[in-house]
Amino acid sequence: MEKKQELYRGKAKSVFATDDPNYYIMLYRDDTSAFDGKIIKQLEDKGRTNNHFNFFIMKKLEEAGIPTHTVKLLSDTECLVKKLKMLPVECVVRNVAAGSICRRLGVKEGLELKQPTFEFFYKDDELHDPMVNDSHILAFGWGTQEEIDTMKSLSFKINDVLKALFDKAGLILVDYKLEFGKDVDGNIILGDEFSPDGCRLWDKETRKKLDKDRFRQNLGGVIEGYKEVARRIGCPL
Ligand code: TMP
Repeated sequence: MEKKQELYRGKAKSVFATDDPNYYIMLYRDDTSAFDGKIIKQLEDKGRTNNHFNFFIMKKLEEAGIPTHTVKLLSDTECLVKKLKMLPVECVVRNVAAGSICRRLGVKEGLELKQPTFEFFYKDDELHDPMVNDSHILAFGWGTQEEIDTMKSLSFKINDVLKALFDKAGLILVDYKLEFGKDVDGNIILGDEFSPDGCRLWDKETRKKLDKDRFRQNLGGVIEGYKEVARRIGCPL
């Protein structure tokens, strides 16, 4: 498949056209962003690590019956994906309180939730990704009720699959962010990526953070953390 022009440059990945209109190439860069792009740094080997990590997780999700855009690895930093029309929302599932829910609701980091929560955020860095609900999505025409219901049920199904996968590796899946899009037939498909850039993972025993909070909170050893997770879940790097 031939790589053509860059169509979109995100904070950490770039999307390229190919000679087939149904497929894109996703390039994982070393850029690491926090606080809606306020801080951007290059972390050596992050692009390669996240590309392999994401591919491993997406394959596990496919095996569990979740439709994803992932087709195949093309190189250490590139993945072939199905073309999707992305919905402009982020879907966040939480099992344990951390990050913005602690600030919003005044709860302590580490509080175990009685059941997982689901939140939508509108994707807009300048507005700092404000939280929205179903009625905003319907009112602005970002998606239909059926699409909303599908995103929620897939997000919870993904929680069942990944909580178990990380638990077996001695890790707590604290929370994560997903993005969905529509394929040419209008089906809701998991897009973007799943990597330690977009989730929180803690060691079960020590509660050591092994995700992007190491970057946000200046704890050091960011990519070492990502690689430790990869090693523990059996993801080849
Ligand atoms: P939050 O606690 O900041 O709301 O984030 C919840 C989870 O979603 C956390 O694992 C980080 C991830 N996330 C992103 O990857 N990108 C984003 O823009 C946001 C808002 C959250």
